Amino acid sequence: MTKDQEIINLYRRKIQLLKKHNKSYFHYDNPSITDKQYDDLKREVIELESKNVFLVNLGLRKNLVGSPPSKKFEKIKHLKPMLSLSNAFDINGMDDFLGKINNFLNRKDKNIELSSEPKIDGISATLIYENGILTKGLSRGDGITGENILENLKTIIEIPQKIKDVNVPSLLEIRGEIFIGKKDFYKIKGNFANPRNAAGGSLRQKNSKETSKIPLKYFAYGFGVIRPMKFLKQSEFLEKIKKWGFSINPLCNTVKNLEEIEKQHSKIESMRSSLDYDIDGLVYKVNDIKLQDRLGNTSNSPRWAIAYKFSAEKAVTKIQDIVIQVGRTGAITPVAKVEPVNVGGVVVSNATLHNEDEIKRKDIRIGDTVQIQRAGDVIPQVISVDKSKRDKNSIKYVFPNKCLCGSITKKEINKSTKKEDAVRRCSKDYECDFIAKEKLKHIVSKEAFNIDGLGKKVIDQFWGLKLIKQPSDIFKIDYNKIRDLDGWGELSINNLKKAIEKSRSIDLNRFIYSIGIRHIGQENAKILADFFTTSKKLSDLFYEKNRNKILKNLIDLDGIGETQIESLNIFFSNKKNINIVEKLIKILKIKDFKIENKKGKFLNKNIMFTGGFEKISRSEAKSLVEINGGKVLGTVSKKLNILVVGNSKPTKTKIDNAIKLNVKIIKEGEWYKILDL
Ligand code: IVH
Repeated sequence: MTKDQEIINLYRRKIQLLKKHNKSYFHYDNPSITDKQYDDLKREVIELESKNVFLVNLGLRKNLVGSPPSKKFEKIKHLKPMLSLSNAFDINGMDDFLGKINNFLNRKDKNIELSSEPKIDGISATLIYENGILTKGLSRGDGITGENILENLKTIIEIPQKIKDVNVPSLLEIRGEIFIGKKDFYKIKGNFANPRNAAGGSLRQKNSKETSKIPLKYFAYGFGVIRPMKFLKQSEFLEKIKKWGFSINPLCNTVKNLEEIEKQHSKIESMRSSLDYDIDGLVYKVNDIKLQDRLGNTSNSPRWAIAYKFSAEKAVTKIQDIVIQVGRTGAITPVAKVEPVNVGGVVVSNATLHNEDEIKRKDIRIGDTVQIQRAGDVIPQVISVDKSKRDKNSIKYVFPNKCLCGSITKKEINKSTKKEDAVRRCSKDYECDFIAKEKLKHIVSKEAFNIDGLGKKVIDQFWGLKLIKQPSDIFKIDYNKIRDLDGWGELSINNLKKAIEKSRSIDLNRFIYSIGIRHIGQENAKILADFFTTSKKLSDLFYEKNRNKILKNLIDLDGIGETQIESLNIFFSNKKNINIVEKLIKILKIKDFKIENKKGKFLNKNIMFTGGFEKISRSEAKSLVEINGGKVLGTVSKKLNILVVGNSKPTKTKIDNAIKLNVKIIKEGEWYKILDL
């Protein structure tokens, strides 16, 4: 046996031992060795690795540290979902953000007061105070349901357990970011890749004594539910809770226009490296809480806030090869395989080239020296070619005209611009193995089936082993074939089984989104679910005769246009697609669609708008109807209950048709009165 082999064997044994003790310690709360013995074992593993770097590449320590004993934390539904933020990467992105706010609120002045706050790169948590006493502390979880990590949060002494003020709202939910200071992190580093991972690992310890050993800190940045609500501005809220003893980031500020946004951004960016905590940008929030309420949320993020990320990190490297990747919609994306290069702390070896036109325009070739950039979590991209460094013999890159599955690819003609699309697509759907695999990754994702433990990498692994070929196979996995795979043990298999079982019960809108019909995102899936209400009615689309009739009716729905209807037609004209959806419907328990807000002034009413309004935008008008239990239609039909006529350029034929069909007509002024605007 070689010396290396001996080291590997020793290392393998220690890792196995560590995994065993991890299980008894974290999962069963029943350690069989002392803390000191455990720590020594961990240290031995780390020492072996630091002396023999090749050991790390064996990938044996996967799932070793911080393996989340999350199943044991009580699950609690958030009082209000914990959303994420949309991103801006430059000042144009911020200009768009302000533009969208103005459009929604139907205002023109681009000066609007914003609260500017560092975006702490930690782990979010929410604290619930009842009559001033801290009663619950939850992790974000999937945003809808969190885990009760109160005991661990209580180890952070800066979090008040009691608020001493007579004027505290009876229900107060404070949201914030938990982190480890950079200096503290270097002291405890252990096996964690970065401070964020360390904070996450520490918060998920089953034993709060473990958490208390790690110096966690936090900054409060917002609120969930407050009853009674007494704040008018975000900045006022932050000041008040600071008085109540919460820790607030000292770099919070207010700004009122693009110029001030940029100034603040540069100022904080220049301080970034000197701060003792990681930040990856600034969060800008509309300061006026009434305006925040009016703006509301899209599916995943509020319209009133955005994360303006710090500028992208750049690096120079060489293209070794250009390969193509096939996305779940068949889009063919060229990817540059580059010589691995460190871009702002992350080693990059792949960078996107976007599409065929982009390669042509920049004349990018294999062997070229290029500049690449990486911003936030987005895929690194090639931004420019240094042609002076090009080899004389280099040849132009010829874009393949076939998909990886061998089928022909096509560029579609954009309906409105009549121009050819920049993106080439495979002409197949589930019949293309590459598309099918990507669709599976979409199906298991957070917004779709949300199966914990079945991420992209696992799909790749299971696909390779032919364990999953199509969506319904997820529910028939042969677990015996997984047991011996690296990284899988009894516990992770059980967790996966449970997560898959849980995903069987799914809301209709999520189901529609999951099946991956092109142009049907989360919002459209909701509109369709509201239309079909049950999976049985959705299956009417399988039959050609019904399909045409149904699709015609869809044009009435606000938000569904010709593009979506055509896409539904194409999807359901394909026998394989129907077969896949049919199998899923049989296996799953799809819940009928129910509108949550079953009260309101427009309950069960169909409403349509024509003309522009003076006080509010069309988008806000639509959101007001939905909040009040109604539905917005896109055409005048017998189903319409009310036509609201705005003062600015209403369409005469719509009004005439409404009169013919005896539909109630309301003028802009009356509409405001109904809504108390
Ligand atoms: S506000 C509705 N403010 O960033 C979303 N988030 O990508 C409200 N974060 O999950 C978030 N610092 O964990 C907000 N000053 C700050 C923040 C902040 C860090 C995190 C937070 C959130 C994530 C959103």
